[in-house]
Order: sequence, then structure tokens, then C-alpha cells
Amino acid sequence: MTIFVAGLSGQIGHAVVDHGATKVIGLVRRSTGTTRLRRRIESRSREIELVYGDITVPHWGLERGALEKLAAEVTCVVNCAGSTDWQGSAESLHVSNVVGAVYGVGFAARLAEISGRSVPYLHTSTTYVAGSAIGVVPETRLGAGADRTRYEHFKWMGEQAVLRQAADVGVPVLLARMPALLGDSHTGETLYKNSLYQLSERWNDIPLGLLPAMKNARVDCVPRDTAAQVLIALANGLAARSFPDIKIVHITNGVNAPTLRALLEAARMVDQHAFDKWVRVVPAGRDHVVNASALGERFGRLPAKWQNTLIGLRYIGLDRSFDRANLLSALDSLDKSAAAPAISIEAAARLTFGLHPARESVVSQKHRSLVRFGA
Ligand SMILES: NC(=O)c1ccc[n+]([C@@H]2O[C@H](COP(=O)([O-])OP(=O)(O)OC[C@H]3O[C@@H](n4cnc5c(N)ncnc54)[C@H](OP(=O)(O)O)[C@@H]3O)[C@@H](O)[C@H]2O)c1
Repeated sequence: MTIFVAGLSGQIGHAVVDHGATKVIGLVRRSTGTTRLRRRIESRSREIELVYGDITVPHWGLERGALEKLAAEVTCVVNCAGSTDWQGSAESLHVSNVVGAVYGVGFAARLAEISGRSVPYLHTSTTYVAGSAIGVVPETRLGAGADRTRYEHFKWMGEQAVLRQAADVGVPVLLARMPALLGDSHTGETLYKNSLYQLSERWNDIPLGLLPAMKNARVDCVPRDTAAQVLIALANGLAARSFPDIKIVHITNGVNAPTLRALLEAARMVDQHAFDKWVRVVPAGRDHVVNASALGERFGRLPAKWQNTLIGLRYIGLDRSFDRANLLSALDSLDKSAAAPAISIEAAARLTFGLHPARESVVSQKHRSLVRFGA
């Protein structure tokens, strides 16, 4: 098995470099500084090659010679590339997350044509294409809706376009939707800070210390290494046609995702001293949370960081879970080569708020019993 991964320099890309044994060929842009990435690859002693390309160009910008070389060994194309900028322009989000995503189908089709065997396409998406949906969000195509943010809208359009194009040209396809990605589960290392981290970064600035959220709002989050391991296993399973009827999976904790309240309480118990002040979760209805989170985008007069924080409110403040029946069924067919996400509430709290076990070493041995979650 050799998987071809676009977006190797990104958050998930880093975790793909760090984990798994499958050979990887990574696509990076010429404009991407690759010195650190190459050093990382060398230090991991993994079989990883890099090629230059651009997903916004047909066949991802690869010439015939390169395509022929790749066709000889690539068993699955994985797209982790795109724009994850919530405040990106409609044009840039469309080009990266719709056009680039569809060109990926064409790229896989071209490799299949040259090699004479099927080359499937695994496209990463986000659970947040659910927009303002509450309750159980299914692993199915989702309908059009007015409540999506610009980023969610173009990720959703990308899904529709990929499914349509793959059916048209006969490329086996899998959409893998992910929730908020946390840093590495062992080191906490993260490439950038998404919605969950913004909760901790802006903790002391939350107006009046009041956090509006639905009563049983859930926070689904997965360390990036877990996500990468599941993705690699799915890519190999897709290539082996182990789950031919599954088209969409959620790489989530499903109903086991912690509630926002439980996550905050866990953080406080792990390290009370990490918080200058405490916030109060105030019960709010779905519309309140959704409308508040859309304020920045609609009226656009907020600093970028606050705008992102407001958008992030819908990722922590809605009472919903992301079904993962398809994921469990797909993983079941793979001889347990990767486990479904099962983040503990303490791990979620530690990673979100940067509460590393090392902090506890300052507690003397005598008082160790006071440390609820001892190292
Ligand atoms: N991070 C999260 O919390 C999260 C949550 C849910 C879903 N997801 C989904 O997971 C996937 C990967 O996310 P991520 O967090 O790893 O993203 P990321 O860190 O923003 O990385 C994006 C990657 O895409 C590459 N890229 C962008 N435009 C490109 C182009 N035109 N041609 C080639 N490469 C291009 C970037 O390369 P450069 O280094 O050159 O910029 C980078 O490697 C995305 O589909 C995202 O929607 C992420």
C-alpha cells in the first residue's frame, strides 16, 4: 500500500508523518517551505517522499511523467489539503475546498486510467458541514441550509461536488468528516489553534464571564494523531475494498463526546491554578448560539480573533452528536488496525487548555493525594 497525501504540511499532515507504517507520498506546494518538514520526515525514519503540486490545478499540477511514476504504486489518494481559514474569501474557499477537491477525483481517475486498476479517493471534510443542526447528525449527504458559515458552506459544497464527480467518473470515494482536531495526544504539539483552543486563549476576556451554550452541549474533539491513524487505516481499507458500501464516515467520539460543562469541570479539577477566573455556562437555545456565532461574519466589524471565537461558539455550544455507525463498521472490517476515537475527558481538558502532566510535578510528594488526576 502507498497512499498519496495532499496537505502533508498541514495539521493532519504532520500527524501522518509521525504515525503509521504505510508508505506515503506527500504533495506540497512549491511555495511551502519544506526544510522543517523534510527534517521531520528524516527524523521519523518513515518511507515518505515529497512531490510538488497544487490542488487548484487539474491533475493537481502533476505532469505526465510524474503521473506515470505515481500510478505504478499509489493505492489511494487522500486529500487533506484545502483552506481552513474561517475568514477566507468566498473565492479562496471555493477554489481550495471545491475546485481542488474535485480535481482530486480527476487525479485519482487519471492514476487509475494509467495503471489499469482502481485508485480510490479519500476526501477529508468537517463535521461542521452540519451547520446549525442539533441532535444526532448522520453520516449521510446533508441538505442545503442557510445557517452555515462561509467556511462550512464551501466544505459542504466540496462534499457535494466530490460525490457527484466520483459517481460520474467511477472513482471509489470516501468522505471523512472530522471534528475539532487537538494537538498530539502524547506531546500536545499542534500546528495552530482552532476553535477549542480559542476557548482557552480568550478565557479571561469572555464578556462578563458568561458562556452561552445549550444545556447539554457537546464538544467533539480528536487528537491529531488519532485522526491520522484512523485516516491511514481507512485509506488502506478503501484500497482493499473492505467497505464498498460506505461513502461517508465521522471520525468522532460519537455519543461519548464530553459535554461542554463536563469538559470545563474536568479542566478545573486537573489544574485549578491555571485559570485566573472562572466562567459560567448560561443556558441558551439553539438559535441564540447560532445567531451569536454568526454575528462577526454577518456584520464584520470585529477583530479577526474575536470573529473566530464567535464562530467557535457553535462548535462548543450546540447539543448534538456526530453518529459514527459507518466508521465503526468500516474499522470493524479492518482487523482492528486502528481504533475509533475515544478521548477521555481529562485528555480533552488537558489538550484544550494546555494542562500538561508536567505541571503536577510541582506538587510535593506529601500532597500528592490532593492531585485528582495524578501523573
Ligand atoms: N484542523 C481542524 O481542527 C479540522 C477540523 C475539522 C476538519 N478538518 C479538515 O481536515 C483537513 C485538513 O485540515 P488541517 O487542519 O490539516 O489543515 P491545515 O493545517 O490548514 O493544512 C492545510 C494543508 O493544505 C495545503 N494546501 C492548501 N492549499 C493548497 C493547494 N492549493 N495545493 C496544495 N496544498 C494546499 C496546505 O499547504 P501549505 O503548507 O502550502 O499552506 C496545508 O498543508 C481539511 O479538510 C479540514 O477541513 C480540520
